[in-house]
Formats: sequence, structure tokens, C-alpha cells
Amino acid sequence: MSDGKTIVLGVTGGIAAYKACDLVSRLVKKGYKVHVIMTKSAEHFVNPLTFRTLSGHPVITDMFSEPGEWNVQHVSLAEKADIMVIAPATANILGKVSHGLADDMLSTTIMAAKPGCPVLFAPAMNVNMYRNPVLQENIKKLTDLGYFFIGPTEGHLACGTQGKGRMVEADEIVDKIISLLEGKKDLNDFLDKKILVTAGPTREALDPIRFLSNRSTGTMGYAIAQAAHRRGAKVYLVSGPTSLVQPPGVEITRVESAREMHQAVMRIFPHVDIVIKAAAVADYRPRDAADYKIKKKDKPLTLVLERNPDILWELGQIKNKRQILVGFAAETENLEQYAREKLEAKNLDLIVANNVKEEGAGFGGTTNIVTIITKGGETIKLPRLTKLEAAHAILDQIRIQAGIN
Ligand code: PMT
Repeated sequence: MSDGKTIVLGVTGGIAAYKACDLVSRLVKKGYKVHVIMTKSAEHFVNPLTFRTLSGHPVITDMFSEPGEWNVQHVSLAEKADIMVIAPATANILGKVSHGLADDMLSTTIMAAKPGCPVLFAPAMNVNMYRNPVLQENIKKLTDLGYFFIGPTEGHLACGTQGKGRMVEADEIVDKIISLLEGKKDLNDFLDKKILVTAGPTREALDPIRFLSNRSTGTMGYAIAQAAHRRGAKVYLVSGPTSLVQPPGVEITRVESAREMHQAVMRIFPHVDIVIKAAAVADYRPRDAADYKIKKKDKPLTLVLERNPDILWELGQIKNKRQILVGFAAETENLEQYAREKLEAKNLDLIVANNVKEEGAGFGGTTNIVTIITKGGETIKLPRLTKLEAAHAILDQIRIQAGIN
């Protein structure tokens, strides 16, 4: 099953380093080639000899030691890796990678990872370190950039506290590695497909200073664009205002209002095979947007709103038989019923429903909990996943709908 694949395992300095020994042993038994890189601090917890014995390969601990098997070790190891796994991953290594620092063998090798090589972190640390907003921001940044995470879980921590910070068990990491490596086989399954993705909120101007908008950050749509690109598609992203970095390789059109989004989508639509509308488009806009700053008065101010075009509905009317149309449904109640109604009313092939009141789902954040409903009546409920994982799951269903082999 391993097909002799190569795993580069980074071990950083934490008490959970002992669990990495079990991890190496399990991976080797499955037939993987495992090369271990240890940081200086990791050596305080486990002797490199243990990993050398378990993996059957020299363990790299020093960037400037005599090259053994490789010429330029960080590059050649990165070249060999089918996947990189960092377990345990400390706050320090996450901070370094998220800021592009490469000052030792492990951070340098991660930086040199080939495009498309999954990098998986299994964090382990004290609960307060894990909660620290700086660390959370680093994790978010890495997740947005396509790095993978597993855990940590809750439980008794080595520092004597209770809470989230325990590294997940070795068998779970092995399962995740297998699923990431198997997923890689399909990286070109959308080759030659053209996909239009919409993302983010729209802004509907009240005057030159104020606007009506919503809580969408664009993360879900950008994750879909990124996943589709990684799977070989030509991706057109129409994005409302967000603070996200443009996904590499994706053609982006930036818009503000629903009418601008409408225009951009209609321009691109005839040229694509698949449309995925993750954007949170405003249904209404102020009827009389002022071209001067509206001054406050003592009386209440009444706003009159008028309807924006329903872009998805229009696409449903004009799509041809070969085009696949995927909508989202952001609901706060009756999730499946409302989603089914939208699927039908807008003539969609697939709808992705999320309950935006549910913890870990919907607006903002790096995760979503989605239910995918097909026009054939199939309902697929997915657990809480990172938005990138959810994006891949959505693409998997589109692939079935579109009959892509
Ligand atoms: O961006 P994030 O912070 O990551 O949050 C993700 C998300 C919650 C925005 C996303 O998961 C999501 O649910 N997107 C759809 C939000 C939405 O507007 O849902 P809706 O149920 O109001 O609209 C249904 C569908 O019609 C959507 O595909 C929407 O893009 C489309 N629509 C809606 C109104 C309109 N005028 N034109 C449209 O095309």
C-alpha cells in the first residue's frame, strides 16, 4: 500500500517526541521509507539513535555536519519527500514556518518542500500556548496556505495542566498520512476543466463612506479555488473584498458590489465547465446611494432597499447541459429543507449547505461543517473539516456529478 513512498518526519522539542518513535515504527512496518530530522531541542527528549534504529536511516540533527547520504541535504531530502510530517510540532516551528524562517535543517527542509508535497503538522504544547492568539494566527495562516494539521486533542498535559494541547496518537497520524498520500493520486483529476469560483462578501454602498455587507471572509471560496487549482483545473476566482492573499495560479477578478459580481460572473460563465458560488452576495442594496456623506439628523433615518440580481438563479436559467452549477446555502435553521428548496428553485446540480450558527461552521474561521445535497436527492453530511478539506470533499462530489474519471 505504501508503494515505497518517502516520508520526511520532523521531530521538534516536546515531551510528545516519545510518541514519534511509535509513529516511525508503524510507518516502517507499513513499508514507508522514513527519514527523521530532529531539532536541537528534540535531542533533549529522545536520543537520535532511537530514530536511527527504528527508521534504518541516518538521523539528521545538524545542518552543517558532514553530508552523509545527500549532497545538499535539505534540498535532496525535500526532493525525495512524498509527504513531510512534523510531529510533535512546537509553537516555535509553527512560528518559524509561518514567517518563512529557515535557520536549521528542519525549517530549511520544510521551506524547500516541492509544490504539491503535503506538509502535515501534529502540534503539541501547553494549553495556554495553544490558545495564544499569535499561535492561532500562525496556524490560520498556514492552513490558508494549504498546510495540513491534525490535533491537538484535549487531555492531561505533561506540564500538569488539563486542556487542548496533547499530540494525537500515532495511529491517527498514520491514517491521516495515508489519506493525504492517497489523495495526491487525484491531483490532476480536474485537468482541462475550467472552474469559476466566487468568494467573499459584497459591499453595497450607502454613501462614499458607508456600506452594507456581511461576515464572509472569503476563506471557503479561496480554499475551493486553491484546491481546484491543485487538482489541475484552470480557475477563475471572482472575489468580493477580503484580506486574503490571492491563491497562486488562479486568475482573480476583484469586485465590490453584487452588481459588479454579476457582471464579472456573466462575462466568464460561457467559458467554464463548472461554477461554484461560495460568495455571500447581498440580496438587497440601498435604493438611493448618496454621492456625498449622509449627515446625521435628530430624526430616525429610513433606508429603502431594492433587490440585487440573483446571480445563481440566472445561471440556472442559462446553463447548458454540460455545465455543472454548484450553489451554497447559508442557513440558520431548517438547513436541509431550505437547501433543497434552493437547489430546485435555482436549477442546481449540487448545493453545499452550512448552518452558520453552528460552532466551527460558516463565516470566518478555518473550518466548516457542510452537507452536500445532489439533484439526484443524495445527502452527504460531512464532519467538521478545515475549509481546504471541505473544498476537496466538494470537488470529489462534483467529480462524481460531472462523470469525471
Ligand atoms: O467566506 P467565509 O468566511 O469562509 O464563509 C463561508 C460562507 C459562510 C460565506 C460560505 O460557506 C457560504 O455559505 N456561502 C454562501 C452564502 C450565501 O449567500 O448563501 P445564500 O443562502 O444567501 O445564497 C444561496 C446561493 O445563492 C449562494 O451560492 C450565493 O452565492 C448565491 N446568491 C445569493 C444571492 C444573490 N443575489 N446572488 C447569488 O448568486
